[in-house]
Amino acid sequence: MKEQILSLVSQEYPWKDRFCYLEETGSTNDDLKALARQGAPHGTVIIADRQRGGHGRMGRSFHSPGGVGIYFSILLRPDCGPEELMHLTCATAVAMCEAVEAAAGFRPGIKWTNDLVFEKHKLGGILTELGFSAKGRIDYAIVGIGINCCQQETDFPEEIRGIAASLSMVTGKAVDRAKVAAAMMDALYRMDCRLLREKAELLEAYRKDCITIGQEVSLLRVGEPVRHGKATGMDDDGALMVEFSDGTVETVNSGEVSVRGMYGYL
Ligand code: BTN
Repeated sequence: MKEQILSLVSQEYPWKDRFCYLEETGSTNDDLKALARQGAPHGTVIIADRQRGGHGRMGRSFHSPGGVGIYFSILLRPDCGPEELMHLTCATAVAMCEAVEAAAGFRPGIKWTNDLVFEKHKLGGILTELGFSAKGRIDYAIVGIGINCCQQETDFPEEIRGIAASLSMVTGKAVDRAKVAAAMMDALYRMDCRLLREKAELLEAYRKDCITIGQEVSLLRVGEPVRHGKATGMDDDGALMVEFSDGTVETVNSGEVSVRGMYGYL
């Protein structure tokens, strides 16, 4: 698999020497965090065939069986403070839309902030984790992405059946996971080149792919009653603007709330 992926990555991709493919692991994000702390370089990638403990935002698990998905983490070391990196998950989501379009022939949408979706189904998700230097600047950013590629409906556990879908289920065709992984690597390299210099353009691209903006949403904040409103836009850091029935507008960021469509997952 490793050689196959590398043979499909573009000539320009500069990090071929720092790519690790594992048959099985706990979590590629956790592995990469350990490598980051030992000084692994910018652009290091770990992909696993399966994960025993794949996890997502807010402590949720990410179902990661072998042979059907891509479980991918990349280590970035941008020279900046955390306030300059608020848009990293958004920029990654746009890069993943490009990668899926290149490898599977259709463009997914983005459910704010970090889910790749197609027609009310979740195709994958993104988990960004940051480490800081003693001066409070970014030491490392680990971006983990899980994409369901080849599953059929009955392959998903019952609790996510009807919510989750795979690239194959959308296209009705077999999907080449090596091609998806290579497209992800290329798209993330291009994203990294633009990350600190083209924030506004990356967020504008995100707004175009984001299906949440314009929708009625429910806001779920731990320890608070659910509140309903309408997502009216996204600010210049990637936070969602929500208008409530009394006319007040609140800007929410992904660390503090989970957003659901009024009538279900989307
Ligand atoms: C989410 O849906 O909230 C995010 C899911 C992120 C899953 C990926 S799979 C690769 C990497 N390793 C993990 O443990 N999580 C991320």
